[in-house]
Amino acid sequence: MNITFLGHSCFSIEINGIYILIDPFITGNALASHIDISTLKVDYILLTHAHQDHVLDVEVIAERTNAIIVSNYEIATYYGAKDLNVFALNHGGTFKSDNFSAKYVNAIHTSSFADGTYGGEPGGFVISSKNRNIYIAGDTAVTMDMKLIPLSVKLDAVILPIGDTFTMGVEDAILASNLVECNKVIACHFNTFPPIEIDVNEAKNQFASKEKELILLQIGENLSL
Ligand code: NI
Ligand code: MN
Repeated sequence: MNITFLGHSCFSIEINGIYILIDPFITGNALASHIDISTLKVDYILLTHAHQDHVLDVEVIAERTNAIIVSNYEIATYYGAKDLNVFALNHGGTFKSDNFSAKYVNAIHTSSFADGTYGGEPGGFVISSKNRNIYIAGDTAVTMDMKLIPLSVKLDAVILPIGDTFTMGVEDAILASNLVECNKVIACHFNTFPPIEIDVNEAKNQFASKEKELILLQIGENLSL
């Protein structure tokens, strides 16, 4: 499993030559101006919720690649009405393909499209390949529901928001990593906009003081799991 950070909450995850894109918000992110969405390889687009900073580039990328958009019922219906390929889930449901599965799990947040359309209830994903499991929390507060995840899978890494204001901040992300029983945390949803700017060195130190690893990928940087 190869994970590439594409800025904000966007990641490309490669599993056996299949490319899964998470929450594409690239052309609206000044920090990600070196990422060219016209050359991204994409087979599936997984969307945690409908906010603009998670779906901005969905339509352009899906039209070019014919990728299958996997998300909650309302988001899938929204893009299905635009003649894009979709697979609708709801919480507790799992999308299965030959190379990976993606279970839609709870998040505490809101979800509406920029045009005001209801975007269903927000979620996160537990993505499993043959030998790796990761949890992408999406935009969320820390929640006791996270304790359910390690009851069924052993996580190799978790992707957590740490920017505070709209999601959990660093202290709650440390708590979340306890709940999901995984000390390898890849950070997202920080520093893109002024309300979520944080001191990343301080964040790293806070994690290290609890014997946890906070991985702060550069935009475009790859991590192999
Ligand atoms: Ni959001
Ligand atoms: Mn967001």
